[in-house]
Amino acid sequence: MEQTNKIALVTGGSRGLGKNMALSIAKKGIDVIITYNSKKEEALDVVKQIEQLGAKAAALQLNVGDIKSFDSFLAEISKTLKEKFQSEYFNFLVNNAGVGLHTAFANTTEEQFDMLMNINFKGPFFLTQKALPLIGDGGSIINISTGLARFSIPGSSAYAAMKGAMETLTKYQAKELGARKIKSNIVAPGAIETDFNGGNVRDNAQINGFIAANTALDRVGLPDDIGGVVAFLCTDDARWINAQRIEVSGGQML
Ligand SMILES: NC(=O)c1ccc[n+]([C@@H]2O[C@H](COP(=O)([O-])OP(=O)(O)OC[C@H]3O[C@@H](n4cnc5c(N)ncnc54)[C@H](OP(=O)(O)O)[C@@H]3O)[C@@H](O)[C@H]2O)c1
Repeated sequence: MEQTNKIALVTGGSRGLGKNMALSIAKKGIDVIITYNSKKEEALDVVKQIEQLGAKAAALQLNVGDIKSFDSFLAEISKTLKEKFQSEYFNFLVNNAGVGLHTAFANTTEEQFDMLMNINFKGPFFLTQKALPLIGDGGSIINISTGLARFSIPGSSAYAAMKGAMETLTKYQAKELGARKIKSNIVAPGAIETDFNGGNVRDNAQINGFIAANTALDRVGLPDDIGGVVAFLCTDDARWINAQRIEVSGGQML
C-alpha cells in the first residue's frame, strides 16, 4: 500500500485550538484524522470543513486519560488509515487534547492532580509510545504546552508542571526517535480565547484585560494565531526544527 498524501492525527480536534490546527493543516494539503472526547457532532462538522478544503478527513472518539483504551483506539486508527486513506501509517501526531484547572497550589487535591496527570501528561506519553509503529519514518510529533510553563500566574501549579513535563519529554523524544528521522517539538500558546477553563480567558473581561495588558502585542490570542504554526511544523520547510519549544503568545509576560 503506497501512501499518496501526508496524514496528521490531531487529538482534541473538535473545538478550540485543535480544530484550528486541523483546518490549518488541511490547508497545507495534508489529510487529517481528528479525535473528540464528548463532542461528536462538532467533530463531524470539522471533518466536513476539512473535506471542503479538499483533504481527506475522519473523526474517532478518544479519551486521552483512558490509557487502557489506547490499544483498541490505535487498532481503529490502523483500520481507518487503510480503508479511508489507503495508508499503513500517518506522518504527524499533534498531542493537543488537554484540560485546565485553576486552583491554588495549597488547595489542589490528589483527585484533581491525578485527573490532570492522566489527560495532560500520562495520556500523551503512552499514546505517543503506543503510536510509534504507526508513525512513518521522517514524521513529526508536535506536543502542546503553555506559556504558564515559562512564567507563573497563581492557580496553575499542577497544570503548568505537567506541561513542563511535556517540554522535557519532547527533548527525549527528539533524541531517541532521531534514528527514525522522527522530530519532536512543542508549541506553547499564551492565553487564547477558547472554551478552555470554562472559557474564562474569552468571557471574563477582567482576565481578558489582565492578559492583554501583559502581552507586548496588547491583546489576547485567538485560535487563528496558533493553528498555522502547528501546520507549518508539518511542512518540509520545518524539516530542521527539532527538540524546540516554540512559544506563540504575542510576547506574554516578558
Ligand atoms: N486556550 C488556552 O488559553 C491555552 C493556552 C495554552 C495551551 N493550551 C492547550 O491547548 C490545548 C487545547 O486547548 P483548547 O483551548 O483548544 O481547549 P478546549 O477549547 O477546551 O478544547 C479541548 C479539546 O480537547 C478535547 N478533550 C478534552 N478532554 C479530553 C480527554 N479527556 N480526552 C480527549 N480529548 C479531550 C475536547 O474534546 P470534546 O470537544 O469532545 O470535549 C476538545 O476537542 C490543551 O492542551 C491546552 O492545555 C490552551
